[in-house]
Amino acid sequence: MTFHRHSISAQSFAQEVIAGLSSSPRTLPPKYFYDQRGSLLFDEICRQPEYYITRVEMDLLSRCLHEIRAAVPAHSVFVELGSGASTKVRLLLDALSVRRYVAIDIDPTFLLQSTQALAHEHFNVDVHAVYADFSQKFPPLPLDDFPVIAFYPGSSIGNFEPAGAVQLLRNIATFAGSGGQILIGRDCSTDRHQLEAAYNDKAGITAKFNLNMLERMRRDLGADIAEDAFAHHAFFNAPQNRIEMHLVAQSHCTFGVAGHQFTFQAGETIHTENSYKYPDRVFHSIVQQSGWHEVMAWTDSTQRFTLQLLST
Ligand code: TRP
Repeated sequence: MTFHRHSISAQSFAQEVIAGLSSSPRTLPPKYFYDQRGSLLFDEICRQPEYYITRVEMDLLSRCLHEIRAAVPAHSVFVELGSGASTKVRLLLDALSVRRYVAIDIDPTFLLQSTQALAHEHFNVDVHAVYADFSQKFPPLPLDDFPVIAFYPGSSIGNFEPAGAVQLLRNIATFAGSGGQILIGRDCSTDRHQLEAAYNDKAGITAKFNLNMLERMRRDLGADIAEDAFAHHAFFNAPQNRIEMHLVAQSHCTFGVAGHQFTFQAGETIHTENSYKYPDRVFHSIVQQSGWHEVMAWTDSTQRFTLQLLST
């Protein structure tokens, strides 16, 4: 197992927090959810009964495994973006005779643990862990001359605005090269009740996950935000086809972070994430604009989740 570190500047967190909290409306970049505690909480979200996305996608992956195998080259290098616990990819590595697995993640601790465990179980796969933030640009990847299959599950493409999704898919097309492929998963539910339940689980794990952003600002940037100053709020914005995640100030408050002071009115929010539920026609246009074309698509029997195989 090989570990590649592409240093993520310690300053960038402080800079992006200050820029985000100074803008109107106020925002924080969702990639900063994923420190070690955030990665563990996200893994727990995936096991909540209300968060159907992980279950439905795993089930869909196992059902169409033989069709995926027929459509992709064997002995490929599989590149997963935001690999987290590397759970879903375990279904694919053996079935697709993958030669090399390159896991990219923004949380080095969780990345190392997950890929080491995976390397022990899959002796035939050459495992590479790449600690990097791929949201700006991709670091050099250990691809050699293997055919490339990118893997982007979990509907994480929905965490990008349409223009950002096009940019990301273009960047993937660049490293995947001619004949490269991507297997991408996308939540396409429009059921408000079910969507809002998925992002407001009863056990409160999503709330903890959202609030962990502030915890991280306290710990890494010395922010003096009171424990109960903000609360989790997630709702479906139907006209925009997206779940919005916010942190809502519970009363008028002022706090300092990295040498800057911020004042919030009661009810004012920090927008921490969007999770777009791209309808087919919108996603189709994103794909077309980014240099990919559709090879195959699979949708689960409840029409909530679509897996697509794209090729450059
Ligand atoms: N890609 C996941 C999604 O949009 C990420 C996610 C799930 C998430 N639940 C969350 C991000 C809660 C922030 C907060 O479904």
